[in-house]
Amino acid sequence: MDWGLKNRMSKIIKPDTGRSVMLAVDHGYFLGPTSRLEDPKKTISPLAPYADSIMLTRGVLRSSVDPSLFNSVVLRVSGGTSIIGEDLANEGIITCMEEALRLNASGIALSIFVGSKYERQTLLSLAELVDSGERHGMPVLAVTAVGKELGKRDARFLALSCRIAAEIGAHIVKTYYCDDFEKVVDGCPAPIVVAGGPKMTEKEALELTHKSISKGAIGVDMGRNIWQSEHPVPMIKAVRKIVHEDATAKEAYDLFKKLAKNK
Ligand code: R5P
Repeated sequence: MDWGLKNRMSKIIKPDTGRSVMLAVDHGYFLGPTSRLEDPKKTISPLAPYADSIMLTRGVLRSSVDPSLFNSVVLRVSGGTSIIGEDLANEGIITCMEEALRLNASGIALSIFVGSKYERQTLLSLAELVDSGERHGMPVLAVTAVGKELGKRDARFLALSCRIAAEIGAHIVKTYYCDDFEKVVDGCPAPIVVAGGPKMTEKEALELTHKSISKGAIGVDMGRNIWQSEHPVPMIKAVRKIVHEDATAKEAYDLFKKLAKNK
């Protein structure tokens, strides 16, 4: 890896623990004003100090994030479809590399849709971004299994998607937790971060975080299970405790309850 690429990677994956807490706030790019993310500034500001990296689009970055913010940014650069459109998988590139560099992103992210009608198109976009990323020192995060593909959330499918992303050259792969998750991790030579998915209880989300980390994920890229919680800051702190301090799910949940009570 070139110096610039390594430097950017170290802003996303913390070198002292080799782990990462990414805060996903990119949902509006296909879901519109998602519940509790209607006003992105309000959602992001209190959580930003506790996230190693924030994943979002350039529009929300410009409008809703203070540029003096210390944290790093992973810019979502794929999109062009919506939840009510014909097919969510029909994504293209919506933000160019020059813009990502201008915005001082530490990484760029795109979704791939393995098994869909648009598999080839999204995988070729990944290949192009990786070529460009290598030229410019910009890490590329490939997001697997969003949308309809989510229905196929089992180890065989996720291992296939993650491996293909890593083979094409993704520097980080984002996927979902599943039974036999270690098979997904073992088959993927790139570091894996886990998405939280739809809101569950805080206890369940912390258990999911713990299982993901103990089975080899290097972190989470979590959204709704943090900012749709009644207590988002205690929740992200509890997630950090697992990711960076190897806390058990119970220890993290106890911390969450204590912080939520003292608010
Ligand atoms: C997927 O690509 C979405 O844009 C989100 O970034 C992702 O689903 C993670 O957020 P959540 O934890 O809410 O699932």
